[in-house]
Amino acid sequence: MREHVLAETANVISAKKCIAYLQQRPKTEMVGMGLLHGAPGLGKTRFARRLAYYNDYIYLRLEASMTAKSFAQQLLRLLHYRYALDNASFHGSTNKLFRRCISILQSNPDAVIIIDEIDYAFTQPVLLGSIRDIVDETIAVVVLVGMKDAREKLLRANSHYFDRCNYFYEFKRLSRLDVELVCKEISEVKMKPDLLTYIHKTTRGNIRQIIKIIEAVEKVSAREQLSIAALNDLLGDKGTTDAT
Ligand SMILES: Nc1ncnc2c1ncn2[C@@H]1O[C@H](COP(=O)(O)OP(=O)(O)OP(=O)(O)O)[C@@H](O)[C@H]1O
Ligand SMILES: [Mg+2]
Repeated sequence: MREHVLAETANVISAKKCIAYLQQRPKTEMVGMGLLHGAPGLGKTRFARRLAYYNDYIYLRLEASMTAKSFAQQLLRLLHYRYALDNASFHGSTNKLFRRCISILQSNPDAVIIIDEIDYAFTQPVLLGSIRDIVDETIAVVVLVGMKDAREKLLRANSHYFDRCNYFYEFKRLSRLDVELVCKEISEVKMKPDLLTYIHKTTRGNIRQIIKIIEAVEKVSAREQLSIAALNDLLGDKGTTDAT
């Protein structure tokens, strides 16, 4: 299996448009906040991480135990690293840490920050408010990534926030064409159309599930020395039933 791949699915293409739109917006008139959301296993985190890696964006993933202060410390660390800044000290009050983040962002107007698992912030008004301050006081692009109902949750948590969001995109289930693309890019074994159709149907376009089937197809293909696999090869193999 080829690892760390970012197949250019319809979701990836649309989510890239979100970032491009926010980067090209009239910056004095519109804040740079967007929200990418969607059901589990559709590739939101893979997209966010890979894009950050290729383009030197800042990627942060919120955690259940994260406070406004630990978020500020982590953001400050990442900003120091990204912009190769000296005098690194990550101590002080939450407010002081955020002020330093904002000051770095004001000096680096090209910054793009992607905050994954934003749903954790919906119950934390201080953390949510601090992210809003970043959006209001800098021209950085801030892309929030959340669960399927993140858009509604954001509206309920803070309507001012929602109002500031200038781009929404919901990740969709993968089409048959996307499934073919993902399998071609990730699998070391070629797949016949009947197998691709089966993968599309059984996984209902969930990439996490697709990966499990690719793994099973590769195993059976290695054992049977196949360079191209058909549906029968997979279904004839009892060991794959867990993955499918
Ligand atoms: N565009 C892609 N190209 C190749 N593989 C992908 C792609 N998107 C996702 N994957 C694979 O699918 C797995 C699940 O994707 P990911 O973790 O990004 O989903 P998610 O939408 O963030 O799910 P969750 O909502 O549960 O956090 C990844 O670990 C990766 O193996
Ligand atoms: Mg994720």
